[in-house]
Amino acid sequence: MKKILITGVAGFIGSHVATRFLREGFSVVGVDDLSSGRLENVPKGLEFIKGNLALTSTIEKLPKDCNKILHLAGQSSGEISFDDPVADLEKNTISTLNLIFYGIKNKIERLVYASSMSVYGSVEDKPVSENHDCIPLSCYGVGKYAAENYLYIYQNQLASTVLRMFNVYGPGQDLSNLRQGMVSIYLAQALNDGQIEVKGNTKRFRDLIYIDDVVDIWFRAATYRSAIGKTLNVGTGIKTSVEQLLNKICFLIPNSNFHVQGETPGDQSGIFADISQLQSQLGVTSFVSVDTGLENFINWTSKSHQ
Ligand SMILES: NC(=O)c1ccc[n+]([C@@H]2O[C@H](COP(=O)([O-])OP(=O)(O)OC[C@H]3O[C@@H](n4cnc5c(N)ncnc54)[C@H](O)[C@@H]3O)[C@@H](O)[C@H]2O)c1
Repeated sequence: MKKILITGVAGFIGSHVATRFLREGFSVVGVDDLSSGRLENVPKGLEFIKGNLALTSTIEKLPKDCNKILHLAGQSSGEISFDDPVADLEKNTISTLNLIFYGIKNKIERLVYASSMSVYGSVEDKPVSENHDCIPLSCYGVGKYAAENYLYIYQNQLASTVLRMFNVYGPGQDLSNLRQGMVSIYLAQALNDGQIEVKGNTKRFRDLIYIDDVVDIWFRAATYRSAIGKTLNVGTGIKTSVEQLLNKICFLIPNSNFHVQGETPGDQSGIFADISQLQSQLGVTSFVSVDTGLENFINWTSKSHQ
């Protein structure tokens, strides 16, 4: 049985990715320091190691016989990265560097990395492709881009794939964290008291991608030969303005409304993905629509709060 290491398994995306690999018959070892993730998110059936990947003491506990590393552990908010940029660097960059050395030492065949659209910074109002300049606006984006570059430097010793994810949303997202995840922040506020406070202009736009599509892309990225050495945008190629998103949420959640106040530091004004590489390298052709994704997310919140 193929054994894989998945980091960030107590988090939103990592727990879903781990569930898929377990279902596909892989033996999964999961790591997480539970700094933002929760133990109850860790899927049953995997071997769990609690530890901070920025520490070599955690790296020493990892198995030596894994075939692949899917690296999703990290601090995932641009806004929070300004609170403590050194901590952000440790979580997103030093952890990655440690895993690169671990991968080389143990002859691991591939590392797939959870990067972000935040690496791009300000872009024009057209689909952003992977060869666009990267001038990040947040400490988070700087750390993610540095990690990508370390992977690039060591690519002859450790094969890698970089997934630049856009706005991922869906069931399992942490609704108690009002500083990470545009969709989950608005949805949480609408469900709490019907009052959505919007930090920034409603004309901003994003590329919203549903968690099931992201999980499928991670599976392809980890198993298709065509993914090796590639940096790929993980988005839908469709832009949704903040206003459109808010209107959809307010339509689905009775008696909710929004008002605009202040802004978020390091926030990008508008960004959506050019997905031609994702389509040609991984054969991804269809996506869950925002309407369906939001309905699934809201149904999940009502079930999980019963
Ligand atoms: N959610 C998104 O829209 C999005 C978009 C682009 C990139 N990403 C990246 O994808 C990854 C997963 O994001 P998420 O939304 O699931 O976030 P999340 O916070 O739910 O999950 C991240 C997990 O990593 C763990 N972690 C953090 N630092 C660690 C460390 N040093 N050692 C071990 N574990 C550590 C946390 O406890 C958490 O369980 C992150 O790296 C994030 O930056 C997310």
